[in-house]
Amino acid sequence: MNVLGIETSCDETSVSVVRDGKEVLSNAVSSSERFHKIYGGIVPEIASRMQLEAITAVSDLAIKEGAVRLKDIDLISVTSWPGLFGSLLIGISFAKALSASLHIPLLGVNHVHSHIYANFLKGTGVKLPFAALVVSGGHTSLFYVQDFDKIEILGETQDDACGEAFDKVAKILGLGYPGGPHIEKMALRGNPEKFKFRCSGTKRPLDFSFSGIKTAVLYYVKEQSIIKKNHRPSAIGHRLICDIAASFQETVIDVLIRKSFLACKLKKVNRLVVGGGVAANNRMRERFYEATEDAGFKCWFPAKELCMDNAAMVAGFGYQLFKKGKISGLGLSAQLN
Ligand code: KG4
Ligand code: ZN
Repeated sequence: MNVLGIETSCDETSVSVVRDGKEVLSNAVSSSERFHKIYGGIVPEIASRMQLEAITAVSDLAIKEGAVRLKDIDLISVTSWPGLFGSLLIGISFAKALSASLHIPLLGVNHVHSHIYANFLKGTGVKLPFAALVVSGGHTSLFYVQDFDKIEILGETQDDACGEAFDKVAKILGLGYPGGPHIEKMALRGNPEKFKFRCSGTKRPLDFSFSGIKTAVLYYVKEQSIIKKNHRPSAIGHRLICDIAASFQETVIDVLIRKSFLACKLKKVNRLVVGGGVAANNRMRERFYEATEDAGFKCWFPAKELCMDNAAMVAGFGYQLFKKGKISGLGLSAQLN
């Protein structure tokens, strides 16, 4: 069964063809990231305008690279929530037009759940049930996944998402956007023991909070910049930037590991699946593999190119839900939550 996946929840426009929920025939991705860089974050209006311009060409490319014809598509699976409202509408409207004109069934799927599904592409051998951690620019959530249509949320961030914290700390340190890869690179040369940053506690043990640690970094940098009589972050020096990046990254990873383990214990599972843009972080992958091995757990991360937003995960997840009888009509619209 060939599924056409469509993903436009943030700044990417992605279309993919996936066979039988696991074989990625094509995964075309166009990002408007370079247009947002100068603002240091996503500008929703720019994202949706670029998506409107890109979607037909990206779809044509996915069909061509997948070596299929539109008439070989059996299902259209599109991200319908959560995400930027205008951006979601571009993907959904395109999906509905294709569905109506070619009489192909349509299904709207959850973007965050699709990040979990990225682990089922390219045959990584994950088995249900498991605990799942999604760490992206917009979300940080823990789930218990009993089946693809039985996903229970166990905890989520109460303020900034994990990727958002990487982006904000990178901005404070005068690094580029998106911040995650910059922090990771600087952290390689830094001392993670140098600063004792802390993530704030949360009322519910499986929730997260990242705004406190971001503010702690901000105050420290401000203090240092003032001492050096220069308000630019670069005034604090390269070595200090590397040490702050390493200490921040290590603290965040500690929290992610601790809470993921708690979720596994609570649900009595020894399988942990991770997804989302932050899961591309090498230090995080290394630490999770080490920690789960020590604890006798097993842990999975998607292939790096499938950590970031992509339509292959949307197509694959849609296939599984469709097999369980899920379907959307042409009344499908973007949901805010
Ligand atoms: O999943 P994603 O592509 O988009 C959302 O659904 O939000 O995630 C993007 C986020 C950004 O915040 C980015 O800084 C972060 O993923 N990210 C990373 C790394 N690569 C991307 N964070 C830490 N380390 C990385 N290597
Ligand atoms: Zn995402």
